[in-house]
Amino acid sequence: MDYIKPNSIVQGDSRDMLKRIEPNSIACSVWSPPYHVGKEYEVHMTYEDWQHLLRDVICQHQPILQPGGFLVINIADILCFKDPNMPKIMAENASRKKVNITREQVLEAMRTHPGYNRYQIAKLLGCSEQTVDRRLKGNNIRGGKYATQTRVKLVGGLIEELALAAGLYLYDRRVWVKDAAWENSRWHSNSYRSVDEFEYIYIFWKPGITLVDRERLTQEEWVNWGSRAVWSIPSVRANDDHEAKFPLELPRRIIQLLTKPDDIVLDCFIGSGTTAVAAIQEGRRYIGIDIEKKYVDMARRACDRAIDSVNGKKNQQLQLI
Ligand SMILES: C[S@@+](CC[C@H](N)C(=O)[O-])C[C@H]1O[C@@H](n2cnc3c(N)ncnc32)[C@H](O)[C@@H]1O
Repeated sequence: MDYIKPNSIVQGDSRDMLKRIEPNSIACSVWSPPYHVGKEYEVHMTYEDWQHLLRDVICQHQPILQPGGFLVINIADILCFKDPNMPKIMAENASRKKVNITREQVLEAMRTHPGYNRYQIAKLLGCSEQTVDRRLKGNNIRGGKYATQTRVKLVGGLIEELALAAGLYLYDRRVWVKDAAWENSRWHSNSYRSVDEFEYIYIFWKPGITLVDRERLTQEEWVNWGSRAVWSIPSVRANDDHEAKFPLELPRRIIQLLTKPDDIVLDCFIGSGTTAVAAIQEGRRYIGIDIEKKYVDMARRACDRAIDSVNGKKNQQLQLI
């Protein structure tokens, strides 16, 4: 079989493509899967499909990771998990304030302002981003009086069990605190539930010798984030070309901490290419996979730009010598 070559982004379903990765070759796999929250690329998936996807992908990491290597998963809990068994008792709202914006008005605003993001559409209509989201997706953080109730679903336990069954051990977990930009974006929850401004980073380890090299980070980096469980990194506000990008700083820290130069870093849900760009900037090799052609093209373009920029900097340094 032809293995996928390092420094490439390939199109396909990760469940098929991971079979084409050379065994014991990946130093670190960093990814953020679909979250089962109704994004464009996951609407067709049931909860069971989603669990199977995670199980298959996690399971296929065991053979391809180097012994002593890491699988790092960035994921959040599901805040609006529809549960038909949940009693429908949580519906009163003291303010009884109804927002009169209809789905048609939202769609019309999107048609007349095609370049606007959700925040701008909300501003235009004088409502919250949550209202825009509700009208578009028919979801409701409160569940509603007659609609199926939603509850919070923790995903960490599921991921941990799937990894353990695959022979990968939970080595560490960190919390990524996103910025409080949500406040400015007027994303208010019409319930007692908090606005979600954090996600998890679960780090699994494949048994084997792991080189612990404190020289990979400066003393300042160790103090600021290397040995800290909470990472404060602003989220990507301009999700204009991909709906769920993580910030470059997130894979960059993981790569810097857990890999050495020339190691191969994998992202089997590469999206806009963030992990590959971080790998290039840190002098590591990369492999990216995405099921959508448009994201594969986008990630390839991002890699080309990152390579040009790294080469440009190297040339400048050579000229200075
Ligand atoms: C949360 S996004 C990842 C975003 C990425 N971290 C970034 O910064 O751009 C998940 C990605 O997984 C892709 N995807 C969904 N199901 C997939 C599958 N079965 N195989 C490969 N990619 C898949 C989607 O197209 C989407 O781009």
